[in-house]
Amino acid sequence: MATARNYPDPTSNRERLVSGTPVGDDSSFELKLRPQKLSEFIGQKKVKENLEVAIQAARNRGEAMDHVLLYGPPGLGKTTLANIIANELGVHFQPTAAPLLQIKGDLTAIITNLQEKQVLFIDEIHRLQPVLEELLYSALEDYKLDIIIGQGPSARTHTLEVKPFTFVGATTRAGLISAPLRARFGIVLRLEFYTPEDLRVIIERSAEILGVEIDDAGANEIASRSRGTPRIANRLLRRVRDYAQVRGAGKIDLPTAQAALQMLEVDRYGFDEVDRRLLLTIIEKYQGGPVGVNTLAAVLAEEPDAIEEIYEPFLMQIGFLNRTPRGRIATQLAYDHFGLTPNRRQSSLF
Ligand SMILES: Nc1ncnc2c1ncn2[C@@H]1O[C@H](COP(=O)(O)OP(=O)(O)OP(=O)(O)O)[C@@H](O)[C@H]1O
Ligand SMILES: [Mg+2]
Repeated sequence: MATARNYPDPTSNRERLVSGTPVGDDSSFELKLRPQKLSEFIGQKKVKENLEVAIQAARNRGEAMDHVLLYGPPGLGKTTLANIIANELGVHFQPTAAPLLQIKGDLTAIITNLQEKQVLFIDEIHRLQPVLEELLYSALEDYKLDIIIGQGPSARTHTLEVKPFTFVGATTRAGLISAPLRARFGIVLRLEFYTPEDLRVIIERSAEILGVEIDDAGANEIASRSRGTPRIANRLLRRVRDYAQVRGAGKIDLPTAQAALQMLEVDRYGFDEVDRRLLLTIIEKYQGGPVGVNTLAAVLAEEPDAIEEIYEPFLMQIGFLNRTPRGRIATQLAYDHFGLTPNRRQSSLF
């Protein structure tokens, strides 16, 4: 007999569509759509300015650039920027991810084989094992690597010289990075959600690469439902393109974009399931708040720092959620969105 789990979840498609993390065939498309140069990278003005200066300075001095930490919610361009740094410096780019590095030997092999001034990129740096993190410290600070050869009384420490290199770490969870590791980064940059205007430009650029015609209004419509996230914007663009080619004349204009997004059940704000549950929990279980982040995390079965670093920033940016010293509060906009009315006690809190 079929259990509930065997039935397709009617909501899962929509949830995946607006997820900031990669799904389905995202990665092959992302490779095509990923900007290669800083000048092609749209938005994030402050981040770009900082990198421009650092890249230019390193080039002028002929030295390895300072180590960089990039942090921010998924899909905002951390990996893209790491790649761009290497391109702009004209050096080799070597990407890996912390979960792939299990034993000291994994990291030692990579570090001892680095080319001079190249970029070593470690994604999900908050998941690096503590022993590997310690190994990394001296490599980052003095370009030296201490390795122990042998065991017991005959064990010897050898110090290997490492070629100067640029380390780029990326994380969605800056709060989980230890203070000593954080201190090793000369440049620490936070990526922000994109404005609908920036997303529109990203969508128009991607449409050109994909060879699909789109007008401003069509691009705007997709942009406004992309949760400030380029990865989601590109994903929605591909789905709207399918719709335009099958149901329309192939061109994406406002009516086509609206019809496609309605069919895909992407709402006005591109909310995913966690956004919805988070707001509804505050509204329905805690009368609009204030409610502490730990309580929220427990109810939602998420980690408190994931709520703080991944979900809340977007909800605060669009004015649906406020952080107060006493906890989180759902705003009038959030009530309006769900067609609910706050009771009198809560409205005094807005
Ligand atoms: N500023 C930008 N301009 C144009 N396209 C962008 C920009 N930022 C990101 N993108 C697009 O969004 C996609 C996702 O970006 P990227 O993989 O760099 O995100 P990320 O921050 O590394 O995500 P994750 O946290 O999941 O690793 C890229 O393939 C690229 O096509
Ligand atoms: Mg990435």
